[in-house]
Amino acid sequence: MNSARTEAAAPTSRFDRLIDWIDERFPLTSMIKEHATEYYAAKNFNVWYVFGVLAIVVLVIQLITGIFLTMNYKPSAEDAFASVEYIMRDVEWGWLIRYMHSTGASAFFIVVYLHMFRALMYGSYKNPRELLWIIGVLIYLALMAEAFMGYLLPWGQMSYWGAQVIVSLFGAVPGIGEGLVEWIRGDYFISDITLNRFFALHVVAVPLALILLVVMHILALHETGSLNPDGVEIKERKDSRGIPLDGIAFHPYYTSKDLVAIIVFLALFSAVMFFAPEMGGYFLEHANFEPSNPLKTPEYIAPVWYFTPFYAILRSVPSKAWGAFLMLAAIVLLFFLPWLDRCRVKSIRYRGWTFKAAIATFVVSFIALGYLGLQPATEKVYVYAARVFTVLYFLFFLAMPFYTRAEKTKPVPERVVYQHGE
Ligand code: HEM
Repeated sequence: MNSARTEAAAPTSRFDRLIDWIDERFPLTSMIKEHATEYYAAKNFNVWYVFGVLAIVVLVIQLITGIFLTMNYKPSAEDAFASVEYIMRDVEWGWLIRYMHSTGASAFFIVVYLHMFRALMYGSYKNPRELLWIIGVLIYLALMAEAFMGYLLPWGQMSYWGAQVIVSLFGAVPGIGEGLVEWIRGDYFISDITLNRFFALHVVAVPLALILLVVMHILALHETGSLNPDGVEIKERKDSRGIPLDGIAFHPYYTSKDLVAIIVFLALFSAVMFFAPEMGGYFLEHANFEPSNPLKTPEYIAPVWYFTPFYAILRSVPSKAWGAFLMLAAIVLLFFLPWLDRCRVKSIRYRGWTFKAAIATFVVSFIALGYLGLQPATEKVYVYAARVFTVLYFLFFLAMPFYTRAEKTKPVPERVVYQHGE
């Protein structure tokens, strides 16, 4: 009999006997205990702690709707655009499945950006959670690749020209640039061949990587334990049974709390999906309702909103090579965050004003860059503003070792602070 169930009374019901039969062959009960009923999380989680679970919900929505879209979509330059129209007009519930998937793409980034911001505020990336954070950044990269390749599939004007701009950036790699671009496209231009390989990567390779990374992310989380808004390590104070004094079991306490968040999220998601699936051209760009035309460049080429902060950084530099380098650096710097931040205190609640000012500037810069990336680059004022915010974005990371070392922090309490009804 599995050790996890040895202390339990002899199985009586048929169900108990079935579970026992499984436990002798697969560690079901012990896994449920380890990851749910005996996984202890701090009792003071606030609303910022729901976005991880919501990210899982969106991932599941994307996987399921993606499977159904694939049943009717045709990955060829000849048929792709028309097959999406066919899904929208003729396939039963096709419009719903497509809008769930397109709304899901934007929802994924909203949820993940809020999830990452929570980690920034409460120092979740610090020792001992560096690997958990790094896996998170890898998830973010995979998510970007997934969204970028998925966007080519409807084969509309923005699909085509967006891919054209981004793939051509690889041409900035010294020495091998031109060959690399050709290798990625599989052709001398974005063509049927490119569409086919992006389809394979979008539907099979990247989702597999994403699922694997998410499993690793949760395993890493359960190894270190979740942090909390006070940045107090609850494992340091345990009762005689070895249970953290400030911990409560993930199931049933947080499963029930998360369920409320899931219901609210699904209500908001449905409101967008049913009443504003294009979201004014932010979730589905207007130019993409036109079939792709390699002979006609759209007036403005702008990526979907979740990429625009990086697009603004790219455009703020006159040289394409340096622009591409800075864009890459803006993302790669995230990996180093655990070592750039020298402050011992984790949570923003007990950190000094320098960090608070820095994080506020960073958020303003990121949002401003996102806005500027959507504007035409022909207006000089937008380009100058993008330069200022690019500098501020990079200063947040590069100056971090200095302003966090000299930070004046407040004393961190020994136990988490919890007000009833929180
Ligand atoms: C598909 C995307 C993702 C999924 C499904 C996911 C899932 C989760 C879940 C379920 C948790 C525990 C609940 C919570 O704290 O909210 C968590 C925690 C965490 N995630 Fe993610 N995550 C994703 C992306 C990311 C990204 C992109 C980052 C950072 C770059 C990240 C960094 C973290 C960190 C640092 C924690 C620990 C928080 C703490 O203990 O205070 N995650 N994640």
